[in-house]
Amino acid sequence: MTGYAERAADRAMLDLAARAAYRGVGLVEPNPPVGCVIGRRLARRGVEILAIGHHRAVGGPHAEAEALALCRARHADPAGASAWVTLEPCAHHGRTPPCADALIEAGVAEVVFATQDPHPAGAGGAARLRSAGVDVRRSDASAWALELSAPFVHRVRTGRPWVIAKWAQTLDGRLAARSGESKWITGPRARLDAHRLRARVGAVLTGIGTVLADDPLLTARGVPRVRRRALRVVVDPELRTPPDGRLARSVTDGPVVVWSSAGARASARRALRDAGVEVVELPETSGRLDLEAGLVTLARQRGVSDALVEAGPGLLGELADLDLIDEARAYIAPAVLADAGALPVMRGTRARALQEAAPFRLLGARRLGPDLGVVWRRSRDGGAHAAHGDQKGSGPGVSA
Ligand SMILES: NC(=O)c1ccc[n+]([C@@H]2O[C@H](COP(=O)([O-])OP(=O)(O)OC[C@H]3O[C@@H](n4cnc5c(N)ncnc54)[C@H](OP(=O)(O)O)[C@@H]3O)[C@@H](O)[C@H]2O)c1
Repeated sequence: MTGYAERAADRAMLDLAARAAYRGVGLVEPNPPVGCVIGRRLARRGVEILAIGHHRAVGGPHAEAEALALCRARHADPAGASAWVTLEPCAHHGRTPPCADALIEAGVAEVVFATQDPHPAGAGGAARLRSAGVDVRRSDASAWALELSAPFVHRVRTGRPWVIAKWAQTLDGRLAARSGESKWITGPRARLDAHRLRARVGAVLTGIGTVLADDPLLTARGVPRVRRRALRVVVDPELRTPPDGRLARSVTDGPVVVWSSAGARASARRALRDAGVEVVELPETSGRLDLEAGLVTLARQRGVSDALVEAGPGLLGELADLDLIDEARAYIAPAVLADAGALPVMRGTRARALQEAAPFRLLGARRLGPDLGVVWRRSRDGGAHAAHGDQKGSGPGVSA
């Protein structure tokens, strides 16, 4: 196989592995979603696929084990075959035996993976495979596979959940009319897409401005399968969240937490607690709630891997100022307000010059009825993820 054909095969197989892995998103966290393809490279080009596996649930078999089991079930011998895995095969005994050992035992001759395991407990698989004589390589051929693991890598490195900011806007970039009215900017298909997103994240965050303006529920509705019941969190330093609002009245559908300051009124705290809402005091920095500390707590104490922010310009702007937005999802409606008094997407103080703007990269865009759904991710390094624009036919789409 030529170098070009080999890379094309790597890209196609890692794309396939990533596609399989996406089926586990929302079900496997705090583990990473992982996919694995086992196949034989054909003499000239292409691959004969023996099995495709993915990690389906926490505590369940890893993708490599799934694919090997499928090989056995099909009487397809993986000896001498290749394995394409979205993440470096693990080398540790966790809830399941090490995947590196399983691949060695099965006689797999080559392992290609997209992302190195950033977790100290999981790393070392590549070295183990190599020392057993397996040909091991990391490949950046598939943007799908690289993007798949980006949230997991981010969580391990920062200790924070992956923060997805989501909003609906008019064509001219407004979140709401000057009256605060924002229901509904987009149509039913865009709204359903947003509910799907709620159905797979660990937490949905909003600000007190949105709670007072919209009285939102923030639950996933109209979705066939709720993969995760998100913790609902309100940034509300003075505890103005109404104890008789829809959030407080729906605590039986899922927990509600309010992030407050230490100085909030005791009576408001009591009223919310009586309504079943949990009030958590966050530390303050320069008179503002420390949102970063709040996010770390969500990851550490609540096992939240992804946090969806559905807020107005106040909280969105503050998160952008703090560079805490990892992914942005805009639903753009074909309507123009052309009113300087209408609400912008973000109110912040991040940059006064274009060169100070935070760079994001485009992941995908999709038509949703009359609206457009667009996904971007924050570009923080010049590393592997920066090269997407050069890739043809490989890249994650917009869907949740
Ligand atoms: N189109 C959409 O997708 C969409 C989605 C949600 C909401 N909305 C609209 O947005 C409007 C509400 O906007 P908004 O900006 O008032 O609401 P918001 O962003 O939900 O909440 C803003 C509030 O959060 C507080 N806050 C944020 N970060 C804080 C921190 N670190 N420490 C302390 N307090 C913090 C702000 O305090 P300060 O005032 O002190 O800054 C402000 O009171 C409504 O009209 C709603 O309909 C639109």
